[in-house]
Amino acid sequence: MAEIKKVGVVGGGLMGHGIAQVTATAGYDVVLREVDQSALDTCMGKINKQLARAVEKGKSSQEDADAILARLETTTEYTDLADCDLVIEAITESLPAKLEMWKEVDGIVKEDAYFATNTSSLAVIDQAAATARPERFLGLHYFNPAQVMKLVEVVRAVTTSDEAFEAGLRFARSQGKLAIPTKDKAGFIVNRLLVPYMLDAIRAYEEGVGSVSEIDDAMKAGAAHPMGPLTLADFVGLDTLGSICDVMFDEFRERRFAQPPTLRKMLAAGWYGRKSGLGFYDYSGDQPSPNPGVT
Ligand code: CAA
Repeated sequence: MAEIKKVGVVGGGLMGHGIAQVTATAGYDVVLREVDQSALDTCMGKINKQLARAVEKGKSSQEDADAILARLETTTEYTDLADCDLVIEAITESLPAKLEMWKEVDGIVKEDAYFATNTSSLAVIDQAAATARPERFLGLHYFNPAQVMKLVEVVRAVTTSDEAFEAGLRFARSQGKLAIPTKDKAGFIVNRLLVPYMLDAIRAYEEGVGSVSEIDDAMKAGAAHPMGPLTLADFVGLDTLGSICDVMFDEFRERRFAQPPTLRKMLAAGWYGRKSGLGFYDYSGDQPSPNPGVT
């Protein structure tokens, strides 16, 4: 059984930077690949900031933070992933983009390495089958922010070997995560439940049940959720939410997974939530305020 020591993370966005950080924190050497230097700088800027904050709060020593950074190598070249024992994909939620990436990576990375996708919704088998190592391919689904959220869904495709699946469970546990095994069904456990909930919140808004902030405040105060559903949708990224619900609608053909018109229009306007500065809320001020353009 191949021991995991060096981990490649492809994509340093919302999820990828967090996965790279928790992986380096757990003692693995990490190679983080992004498309260009500016994307790598943004990603490392976030990691540096979070590590500095942990030191400031006394939750980590400066030596530990330095050691984590020393384990993190950045690159724009797939060839630097060649000797990784595990490669985790955390790029955009698009099957063609993921397949193109795996085509490159499969030919470069050593044959006994494991491959994992952080997909939120796509069937893992569709990516596994496109590589020459479908038995060493699995899903490792992290939650945002990966540095904080306890769960990793470990997804077994029909081709995943017992050995690769066990390696995935052990890897997630070694990061201090709760590893929950799931079948390869669109949305797995959490998004199967969470996505219709966020979409229903948008429908409730469309039907005038409450304003954006009333719906959010109600779920915080009435159901003890840390964030209301529309804040959460902005936090996940409305583009990501749109991609996930499209995949789930295609798979299950149920209205509960369909994009509500408000979401479709917001995506057309380029309002992707917190990361783009506008979503259900406007993030340009000190505090988020409801986006008056959402009608
Ligand atoms: N990166 C790293 N650390 C972060 C962070 C981030 N982006 N955001 C918050 N934290 C840390 C803070 O530093 C703080 O750490 P300490 O306790 O060590 O001081 C801790 O988290 C709490 O943060 P705050 O006090 O600033 O804020 P909070 O108490 O409101 O918590 C939150 C923030 C953890 C994000 C909380 O609001 C929350 O749990 N929200 C729900 C998140 C959620 O549901 N995520 C899942 C989304 S679905 C998904 O990801 C799946 C998918 O496929 C779409």
